[in-house]
Amino acid sequence: MSDVPLSEMVTFSPNKNIPIHRWFYYREGYSKAFVEWCIQNYKLKGPILDPFCGVGTTLLACKENKIDSSGCDVSPLARFVSEVKTRDYDLDEIQTEFSALKKTEFDFPREGRVESWVAKRFHPQTFRELLIIKKFLDHAYKKNPLHDLALLALIDSTLRASNVERMGASLRRTTKEYKPIKKFWLQKLEFMMKDLKKAHILGHIPVILEDDARLLKRVKSESIGSIITSPPYLNKIEYVSAYKLELALFFDEPKTQLRSFVGEEMRNSSGESDLPIVDAYLKDMEKVLHQLYRVLLPNGKAVINVAGGAFPDRIVKSDDMLIEKATEFGFELEDNIVARTIDAYQRHSGFVGKVNERVFVVKKPA
Ligand SMILES: C[S@@+](CC[C@H](N)C(=O)[O-])C[C@H]1O[C@@H](n2cnc3c(N)ncnc32)[C@H](O)[C@@H]1O
Repeated sequence: MSDVPLSEMVTFSPNKNIPIHRWFYYREGYSKAFVEWCIQNYKLKGPILDPFCGVGTTLLACKENKIDSSGCDVSPLARFVSEVKTRDYDLDEIQTEFSALKKTEFDFPREGRVESWVAKRFHPQTFRELLIIKKFLDHAYKKNPLHDLALLALIDSTLRASNVERMGASLRRTTKEYKPIKKFWLQKLEFMMKDLKKAHILGHIPVILEDDARLLKRVKSESIGSIITSPPYLNKIEYVSAYKLELALFFDEPKTQLRSFVGEEMRNSSGESDLPIVDAYLKDMEKVLHQLYRVLLPNGKAVINVAGGAFPDRIVKSDDMLIEKATEFGFELEDNIVARTIDAYQRHSGFVGKVNERVFVVKKPA
């Protein structure tokens, strides 16, 4: 078993050193070590579902451990990254294609302005080059077996080549310089090819669904052995804002808002709380828990990694509330561990309190 402490396993950090898992940094993700720890510690049986699959950490770890899995995420960016990381590749074929791609000449124009909020996040020449490479991938290269790997490398290079950096959910301006995006892109692709040589395993390709965890329309009742997942945390990250550059350039607008609450029903909320977002979050998570109960086989377990929420004047223990809701649905609580405690600060009010990030395990009775 991994010697990474649980407090670190629940972060994306350990993935930064792991081939394939490190292809797209997802601050909101957990680690391969966490998934393997869950499988071993709680003796989880397949098939495994991750209804908030993010960039596919659960799914890739399952593939690597030869376990069938499936997942969904409302973000097209997250689904794309998950798919590219978990496919089977013919390594000789894509290596040949990569050698040819490196020799491709691109005709980058030196003039022409595109005025949009996206263009303003880049040096004008970098932006022109980005659009030319993207156009090449969208058209001439569309059917190439290397296409999706090359597109992921470009998506990942976008932020590095821009003049902004991600700060929580927003983008903060950094420099104004020209950045050589073609060089970044080919370097990243080369790095990915090396990772495939080191760690690529065939088989157990996960099924990645375009679905909403509150509905799980595409998952049959009593078809899932175990669930490992981490839903959005209350009041934490607006996924659309954090990844808006990549989403605007490479994908259609996601159909749901992907706020820190799971859905988008805050304005309709008629709950008692003076924080409508808490009611909206709990209502959404009730729907999710209902679906988890429905799709699990009897004796199936769900391992859930979640934290409470921090507001300017208080901490809301939404993690404890979720456990209570899960037991109301008929789940049996099998374990409940605090993985780490985080000091919560808010911009205007300073230190607000301590938020627990926990792992709880519930079982559907036989
Ligand atoms: C905490 S992250 C999960 C990260 C994942 N464990 C990983 O390691 O990559 C939560 C994910 O839930 C997704 N999400 C938000 N609302 C959703 C919904 N209603 N249905 C499915 N996925 C949703 C977000 O796009 C985000 O990728």
